[in-house]
Amino acid sequence: RKRSAILISGRGSNMISLIAAAKAADFPAEIALVLSNLPDAGGLARAAEAGIAIAAVDHRPFGRDREAFERAMDEVLRVNQIELVVLAGFMRVLTPWFVTRWQGRLINIHPSLLPLFRGTHTHRQALDAGVGEHGCSVHFVVPELDAGPVIAQAKVPVLPGDDEDALSARVLEQEHKLYPLALAEVASGRAVLAGDAVIRR
Ligand code: GAR
Repeated sequence: RKRSAILISGRGSNMISLIAAAKAADFPAEIALVLSNLPDAGGLARAAEAGIAIAAVDHRPFGRDREAFERAMDEVLRVNQIELVVLAGFMRVLTPWFVTRWQGRLINIHPSLLPLFRGTHTHRQALDAGVGEHGCSVHFVVPELDAGPVIAQAKVPVLPGDDEDALSARVLEQEHKLYPLALAEVASGRAVLAGDAVIRR
């Protein structure tokens, strides 16, 4: 089982679904650590309740020095012998230094059907664009934001009368199913990053 760290900034509902999936004895990843850039992130308490080791590296004292912040996180990952980094609502942009260091071992979930709607407020973006379907993507992280090759996606319809809350709730339900499946593919070596593509074995 691959020793995996989940990185969060908020409530951690995806984190909870990953922890639940990883309880199965045949799941190829073990959630060895939950790490947050915000010491008071709601998800940290939930992880601790679930019996998972937690850590926080507050990004704020590092000011604009993103790489120094990431070196501190990287040290926590090293000490915990982490092999795979799983971003789940982690709201800091990572530098090429960190991304390159973890290349192929760093995945993210993004609440849109990439390459559509990168960045933030993806549900607002989808509603404004008037698309008929929306969803979520799990992808390998590359230095360019939300541009990494997609491992798996799930789609939902956009329904008449949807607002951001209704649409984000519909997508989130799919995120909770999709992320454990995608993590299992990566942790088992069935999905591998090769250049800017995902190879299936
Ligand atoms: C999720 O919808 C995730 O896809 C999104 O933040 C939410 C976190 O919720 N991530 C991003 O927007 C990354 N740029 P959670 O803390 O309940 O898992």
